[in-house]
Amino acid sequence: MTDRIEWVRSNCRLLRAIAEEFAATRPFLDLTIGTGIHLEPKTVALLLTLKAGGAHVISTGNLNSTQPEAVAYLRAQGVDVIGDRTTDEAEHDRYLRDVLAAQPHLLLDNGGDLFVNYLEKPYDRLLGGTEETTSGRIRLAGLRSQLTRPILVINDSPIKQFAENRHAVGQSVLESFLRITNRATNGRNVLVLGYGSVGRGIAASFRNAFATVAVIERDPVLRLEASFDGFQVPDRAAGLRNADVVITATGAAGVITEADLDGLRHRVVLINAGHFPAEISVERIMGDPRVATRLDGPEGITTLELTDGRQIHILTGGHMVNLGGPRPLGNSIESMDLGFALQARCLEAVARGRCSPTDVVVPVPAAINAVVAEAFLQLYR
Ligand SMILES: NC(=O)c1ccc[n+]([C@@H]2O[C@H](COP(=O)([O-])OP(=O)(O)OC[C@H]3O[C@@H](n4cnc5c(N)ncnc54)[C@H](O)[C@@H]3O)[C@@H](O)[C@H]2O)c1
Repeated sequence: MTDRIEWVRSNCRLLRAIAEEFAATRPFLDLTIGTGIHLEPKTVALLLTLKAGGAHVISTGNLNSTQPEAVAYLRAQGVDVIGDRTTDEAEHDRYLRDVLAAQPHLLLDNGGDLFVNYLEKPYDRLLGGTEETTSGRIRLAGLRSQLTRPILVINDSPIKQFAENRHAVGQSVLESFLRITNRATNGRNVLVLGYGSVGRGIAASFRNAFATVAVIERDPVLRLEASFDGFQVPDRAAGLRNADVVITATGAAGVITEADLDGLRHRVVLINAGHFPAEISVERIMGDPRVATRLDGPEGITTLELTDGRQIHILTGGHMVNLGGPRPLGNSIESMDLGFALQARCLEAVARGRCSPTDVVVPVPAAINAVVAEAFLQLYR
């Protein structure tokens, strides 16, 4: 694993260049940065870049995705890591509060957990920070009047949208399906719920892997786009009935529930690619009286046998599939290097006071997108 962390660090060309620059310019000197982001090799590269800029970094992971080797590596490099891998929401909440107890000057959030917890016990020295995801932006947008500090949303950068959400998540969800199930995609019916950037990339990746892909999308305009992109857009019940693989990518909760049990095909594989493990209501499905037995099979696969004999497979307990199962790799190094370069530049802008206090939950400034895009084109030539 240490080899993998070294491999990732040496391949993150943008972050390496920024770390070298930060070591000279020290934008975070005397500042504490609190983070609540998946702890895996690529975030190691980001957190050490922030540290190179003079920050005291205090971090915890997200639910279920913390990799112990990443934690050990960070600790050895002087990053303060709170807690370990957990699927227990109350425990995870305690870790977040421990990060906030250090009263970080800057917060790097992933899903809005840190900023929401901050509002319960606000403190003066918070300068602002960043939010990584769509789900976090939705949560925090309603709290603008309370947050009153610059918070830049990485997800709303066009670079993040096409490089990570569309291309990289599509590839890594396909890679995860193959790695965890060892099943072919050829000729299988795959149903993707949600046709935002993430759903678009997943649909394209599975089609490129010779599956027949259908899309369920709430927004009729995006449904039309899916149809123009060549995907089937059946009604929901027909889509579920035909699907060998169902993948949620909506950012919403309760997208697949026990109410769908009767309409699912024997041996269907249920997968969540959205940020929160609530898109598939796993607990409610498991607790349904139509579920006769539950078998925790090979790592990452739970099989439910229904009273009528049908089997339903759920991957990684409904947690984000590309960060679970055996030997999870997450999204490609290039895509994360881009997204994390945006993170580093945005945190630098907040630390340097280059943002207005009215920039509360706003997209990455165009000038930062341009700098990062130019740097990628130069460094990955
Ligand atoms: N797995 C990963 O590595 C990874 C990476 C980036 C983002 N994400 C997550 O993926 C999710 C989707 O991200 P996005 O950027 O595509 O978001 P998005 O908001 O652009 O797209 C989500 C789409 O889902 C649709 N939708 C919502 N509820 C629905 C429902 N019940 N049925 C059908 N469609 C529905 C919406 O209309 C929207 O078009 C988010 O939770 C995001 O945080 C995961």
